[in-house]
Amino acid sequence: MIYLKTDEEIELLRENNILVSKTLAEVGRHIRPGVTTKELDRIAEEFIRAHGAVPAFLGYEGYPASLCISVNEQVVHGIPSSKCVLKEGDIVSVDCGTFMKGFVGDSAYTFAVGEVAEEVRQLMEVTKEALYKGTAQAKAGNRVGDISAAVQAHAESFGYGVVRELEGHGLGRKMHEDPGVPNYGARGRGPLLKEGMVICIEPMINMGTKAVVFEQDGWTVRTRDRKPAAHYEFAVAIRKSGPDVLTDYSIIEEALKN
Ligand code: MF3
Ligand code: CO
Repeated sequence: MIYLKTDEEIELLRENNILVSKTLAEVGRHIRPGVTTKELDRIAEEFIRAHGAVPAFLGYEGYPASLCISVNEQVVHGIPSSKCVLKEGDIVSVDCGTFMKGFVGDSAYTFAVGEVAEEVRQLMEVTKEALYKGTAQAKAGNRVGDISAAVQAHAESFGYGVVRELEGHGLGRKMHEDPGVPNYGARGRGPLLKEGMVICIEPMINMGTKAVVFEQDGWTVRTRDRKPAAHYEFAVAIRKSGPDVLTDYSIIEEALKN
């Protein structure tokens, strides 16, 4: 069941995703060698609560933290830990969710810890570009497959592996609504996109093969070959005017300049 949102509901979803963007910026300001992912999670939880929201991930199907923080070969759903200390050259996907005013925010960004190897920098850039190319297809009259195919084509043109086991999703009063939004697929296939739909597009792209392993902790997903992966996530509303991105990466990227 796909729920179409009114303009008012889209503004509440925007408020949530702006708060997620600000939280990711605040976390980004604290990413440096020596910080633990547990400390980043604490910063995010305090920031979210100080802004009148609650962390949407905490307690979701028993998830034990406010962020998912996935380092290097971890693709998504890494659990913050006081034992996980970031070091120069790491990359970290930080995925954040909020809940306020009856709606959910859900977005992610991959950060570099200090200087990273050129090939890793390229993986991050191409994954973000794949997100932008997918987002450009998020318009009424297109189908979900148009988004999927655009993401896949860009990532595979660099020889990267596109993760199959996880996908984007509808976003609304619940974090995971229909439709599913895979990062691979065929143009012209899948559910029709309509005005008022709000979806999360979240490419998970591996430097090596597409194969992943689900870890014993019940959450963490990592690459099978242990090569790095990147992950970015936008919430996007489908409007008469075209894709309306509810997440604001400029807030994050401004914060990283200082
Ligand atoms: N952004 C993630 C997703 O779309 C949500 C994290 S899963 C949770 O699947 F359980 F931690 F909430
Ligand atoms: Co999501």
